[in-house]
Amino acid sequence: MGRFKHLISIEDLSKDDILYILEKAEKFESIARGERKSKILEGKTLANLFFEPSTRTRVSFEIAMKKLGGDVINLTAQEAISMAKGETLADTIRIMSEYVDVIVLRHPLIGAARYAAENSDVPIINAGDGAGQHPTQTLLDLYTIKKESNLNNLKIALLGDLKYSRTIHSLIKALVLFNAKIYLISPESLKLPEEILEDLKGDIQYTKLDDVIDEIDVLYVTRIQKERFPDEEEYKKVAGSYKVDLKTLERAKENLIIMHPLPRVDEISPEVDKTVHAKYFKQAFYGIPVRMAILTEVLID
Ligand code: CP
Repeated sequence: MGRFKHLISIEDLSKDDILYILEKAEKFESIARGERKSKILEGKTLANLFFEPSTRTRVSFEIAMKKLGGDVINLTAQEAISMAKGETLADTIRIMSEYVDVIVLRHPLIGAARYAAENSDVPIINAGDGAGQHPTQTLLDLYTIKKESNLNNLKIALLGDLKYSRTIHSLIKALVLFNAKIYLISPESLKLPEEILEDLKGDIQYTKLDDVIDEIDVLYVTRIQKERFPDEEEYKKVAGSYKVDLKTLERAKENLIIMHPLPRVDEISPEVDKTVHAKYFKQAFYGIPVRMAILTEVLID
């Protein structure tokens, strides 16, 4: 086992742990690109246990594992597994931990991954627990910033649904470790939960995008998390309330990078994709080397 057994929250990692994973990911990039081969995880099996939809996280874990010589099983349809017959999450995890070497879990409830780890003999990697945490996304976000911008003296704006976005809840905790200057921009009803903000000791302030677009290094955009709204009418009030387009970027720094965990709905206009600022597709690719670094850490190091 490496520096950690499970990866449940970004708060479980120190700044040193984070930098170590980012450096390790760099070494896996050539394998991720298919320029080099590896069998380092031969004989190991990963179970993707996804109780919410995913494209990037599930597929990039699968590719990362397979490109390192490991095997993958996917359990994605809740109705197809014995939980549909009343089996608990704890029992499902106990059984799966008899069969596989690592479990990647996405679940709609905050705390589900921590609970799974308490019931598992094998590493649990949190691939998103409701509006809670998404630590592997944070690591690939930081990797993207390191590669495409600079983690030092960073000025970053977090735009969108700060209330329900787990990628924001994870990322902001890591950004504080790197002493970033953080601007929060959101509709009034989608502000960062007070309990998260109160815990953060950093340079953080609410603002408008227009007021900071000419000074930020990174613009991190999130979609409105429609599926987390208890009331559809509340969602309708904020739907479409912000959009990044070419006009938004007229005064942006030349080296501004735009990131998005994806999926995108309508918050970044497709015309932005062709600009030098757009890094969200590259960001999705970086998920592969970063997840290779995480898998080798929990499986062999
Ligand atoms: N960024 C992210 O978690 O994407 P998926 O929902 O497609 O996994």
